[in-house]
Amino acid sequence: MKKLSNFIQGLALLGVIILVMSYTGKEKGTVPNSRKVAFNSGWNFHLNDSIKDKDTINSSTTWRTLNLPHDWSIEGKFDEKSPAGYGGGALNGGLGWYKKTFKIALENKEKITSIVFDGVYRNSQVWINGHYLGKRPNGYIGFQYDLSPYLNYGDKNNEIIVKVDNSKQPNSRWYSGSGIFRNVWLETTDKLYVEQWGTYITTPKVTSKSASVHLETTIKNQYAASKSATILTTIFKNDTKVTSVTQNISIAANANQVLSQDILVNNPVLWSDEKPELYTSVTTISIDNKIIDQYKTNFGIRSFKFDLNKGFILNGKQVKIKGVCMHHDLGPLGSAINTRAIERQLEILKGMRVNGIRTSHNPPAPELLDLCDKMGFIVMDEAFDMWKKAKTKYDYSLDWDKWHTKDLQDQILRDRNHPSIFMWSIGNEIPEQWSDEGVVIAKELSGIVKKLDTTRLVTAAMNPAVNMNIDDVTLQFEKSKTYFNKLATSGALDIIGYNYAHQTFEHHQKNFPNIPFIATETTSALETRGYYDNVSDVVKKWPVRWDLKFTDGNPGNTVSAYDQVQAPWGSTHEATWKVMKKHDFLAGMYIWTGFDYIGEPTPYEWPSISSYFGIVDLAGFPKDIYYMYQSEWTNKTVLHLFPHWNWTAGKNVDVWAYYNNADEVELFLNGKSVGVRSKKGDDLHVMWRIPFQAGTLKAISRKNGKTVLETVIKTAGVPAALKLTADRPTIKADGNDLSFVTVDITDANGVLSPNANNEILFSLKGNGKIVGVCSGDPVSHESYKGTKHTALNGKCLVVIQSGNKAEKLELTANANGLKATTITISAE
Ligand code: GAL
Repeated sequence: MKKLSNFIQGLALLGVIILVMSYTGKEKGTVPNSRKVAFNSGWNFHLNDSIKDKDTINSSTTWRTLNLPHDWSIEGKFDEKSPAGYGGGALNGGLGWYKKTFKIALENKEKITSIVFDGVYRNSQVWINGHYLGKRPNGYIGFQYDLSPYLNYGDKNNEIIVKVDNSKQPNSRWYSGSGIFRNVWLETTDKLYVEQWGTYITTPKVTSKSASVHLETTIKNQYAASKSATILTTIFKNDTKVTSVTQNISIAANANQVLSQDILVNNPVLWSDEKPELYTSVTTISIDNKIIDQYKTNFGIRSFKFDLNKGFILNGKQVKIKGVCMHHDLGPLGSAINTRAIERQLEILKGMRVNGIRTSHNPPAPELLDLCDKMGFIVMDEAFDMWKKAKTKYDYSLDWDKWHTKDLQDQILRDRNHPSIFMWSIGNEIPEQWSDEGVVIAKELSGIVKKLDTTRLVTAAMNPAVNMNIDDVTLQFEKSKTYFNKLATSGALDIIGYNYAHQTFEHHQKNFPNIPFIATETTSALETRGYYDNVSDVVKKWPVRWDLKFTDGNPGNTVSAYDQVQAPWGSTHEATWKVMKKHDFLAGMYIWTGFDYIGEPTPYEWPSISSYFGIVDLAGFPKDIYYMYQSEWTNKTVLHLFPHWNWTAGKNVDVWAYYNNADEVELFLNGKSVGVRSKKGDDLHVMWRIPFQAGTLKAISRKNGKTVLETVIKTAGVPAALKLTADRPTIKADGNDLSFVTVDITDANGVLSPNANNEILFSLKGNGKIVGVCSGDPVSHESYKGTKHTALNGKCLVVIQSGNKAEKLELTANANGLKATTITISAE
């Protein structure tokens, strides 16, 4: 017997799988709670560029109490002279200090207590009870420190201090935000435990009948003695135990051991973008039948490949990736993450059947990836916007040499169990892509990724050296050969990532016969929601020329929402999608961008401070182009008619319709037909050019002569009332949940006033807070954090956060000359 157990332990030490017990019956069980708890409340904050040294903080330093996540930049004023520039949203960085006092129960004295930061922008330094724990320049990566050696237990206080230095500006091409802008956790474990990010779960063989699940688990022993323990891995589907495997280990003092286990799951429920089915693996460590540690990992079972001819194949089925790029800010909430706010963005994108997200151009908040797992998005997880060569004066290139290996490794370790991730991008439009140096770095980065994960493809988002917006097709082909740089042909990439140059997509198989295709970034079309340049106006189109600035725009820095205007390196929405949908080998694309974001107000500069690229505006209101995608990508029957119907009499107005599931659309003006239109060839919309006459515009779509849908737009009278609509009238009373309330300015008959720009004042009764106001107007300099805001084209958004008390919250909106209105949101 002794011999046998020695033998078993010997095998365990080698990390070889031992199935001591395994069952595949379905049994109820409980997935344990996470071993970490939120550590977000009751922090103190002090913003002061002149306190550079921790020891300068003294009893006269004034502190403000707040809860994390927190972004101090969003609280500031838009400043034309901000060192962050318009690119950074004209909001200032600075140097901030956070501190928190807390107690740790005596019973935890023999345990390990760590603090986990999901991301601090940027250059964080941390001290516990006066001991320095370390520095992390990268603002987007998660990290943790073991506090145990320095903690006081029992009644005595502990003090943690965090310095956040975002004072050197500019360091980003978009709005970064500043501060502890992601969640903070306190994690308590036994000294024998699964290491942070210590599991790696892959599904090497997947069929509809069975899936082999391979688990690698790193167990850490921080005891001064060797330990023998039993490791039980249980796979759950929701709350049902699917199967489990047990293994005995013996692990030396202060050592790590990697266990390797293989489990068979019968009749697996596969993860896909349409049915994102998840499993949970729970690793339980026991000594003498006493559970000492439990670690939970969500994963999915799916198979995929990028095929040279068929594009992206998921579980044996071809799936076109219809993705969008997203920056991390949450509009009026700034960069302080809130899970509901991310979920809302994803819900809105799902409404037009987006099925992919690119985390441009940095590791995202972990909550985004959890939501992508749950909601079904095909994620490209991106690491860097620059390597050694800077894009802005004080950016990450300064930290590159010292930190890139650790940052990339941590990103892969942190993210590699997410079933939603299918590609790693090692960089976006990296200046070194043209040089031999770039090849060396790309190989190094790809090597770092491959050491930790070989199941996804490595790509880089590469942009053309020359403008591809040329009409001559032969020339396009010639140029497309040189388009791809040393990086593309270096062998470091598993899939060629195209930023823009949709004219070259169809040449891909000739140019790169052995490497699959993905459009890492496309389009960069520009629109202001609800603003339209008509034929009788001078349409301010961009590009005029690739190398020209857009100095000649509209007064008020508006951009027409007819999908007429694009960055010179990009295309209209329709142009890229027309190419993309034509060929299976074009696996898919990530459109720049899903939502508008703060900063990079291309094509304008000040007074514009937020971007025009979004399919959805900064407040979360879809622009018209949203419905083009909806008509193409969803099964929903669509008939979207625009623009609004408030023009001067006689003006020629272009009326567009996006529609599907019908052969034709007929338009009526005040009851009189103005013509039947149907899409020809690869058309994606139909259009009528008609002189304006106040009244009713009605479109009817028909299939085989039968009405499919009817859409009506009416001329609005003078603005008279405010209408409030909450996305969720009931929210959780947890101090965190949000209700997004849309404000519509209407006439006396409830018709949206499409040009109304009244200032709206908000007040809230109850224990909640108004945490954001926004109209989606890129030139507005009103604070997103105020309680009043000017509407853009009839619409505004106000975001309500619950308190910790269950009660009814009463939101009132007021505006001069308009009827006030109140809505009740129930916090439960
Ligand atoms: C791309 C770049 C993006 C954004 C975009 C705007 O070249 O990768 O970060 O700047 O242009 O069109």
